Amino acid sequence: MAKIDLRVNGETHTLEADPGMPLLWALRDLLHLRGTKYGCGIAACGACTVHLNGAAVRACMLPLSAAVGAEVTTIEGLGGNHPVQQAWIAEQVPQCGYCQSGQIMQATALLAANPSPSREQIRTGMAGVLCRCGTYLRIEAAIQRAADALRPQDDPA
Ligand code: FES
Ligand code: FES
Repeated sequence: MAKIDLRVNGETHTLEADPGMPLLWALRDLLHLRGTKYGCGIAACGACTVHLNGAAVRACMLPLSAAVGAEVTTIEGLGGNHPVQQAWIAEQVPQCGYCQSGQIMQATALLAANPSPSREQIRTGMAGVLCRCGTYLRIEAAIQRAADALRPQDDPA
């Protein structure tokens, strides 16, 4: 066990934890941020996706020690009115909902890196986040809608 300072959603938390503990455990069990889900535990499904300094990472395989000094953002950190979340609502994306926080975190990272992704780029960028309910077409539509909403008005791309 060690004292670990972790930055999550703009706040610093001091945790008593094993530095080798997966970040996902710390988020869910120590900080009670339960929007991030456990799916496979082996970085194969994307349900646990969060941002580390803005990049999408799988929290189930990332040791807590790797997040020290970085800015972690979870689905709670998007706040609910983020354009990607609004697009998800408008396109009625979720079915059971279990995968959707991971989908949204992957999508926000994708749009930050590429504000005007093609359909192919969306498919490639989202390929690592699985949805057992098969909401993929609605996810694509929501990402295109969010890209339109995020694009500056004078940029026709
Ligand atoms: S729970 Fe982390 S990728 Fe599946
Ligand atoms: S909405 Fe059910 S797993 Fe994706």
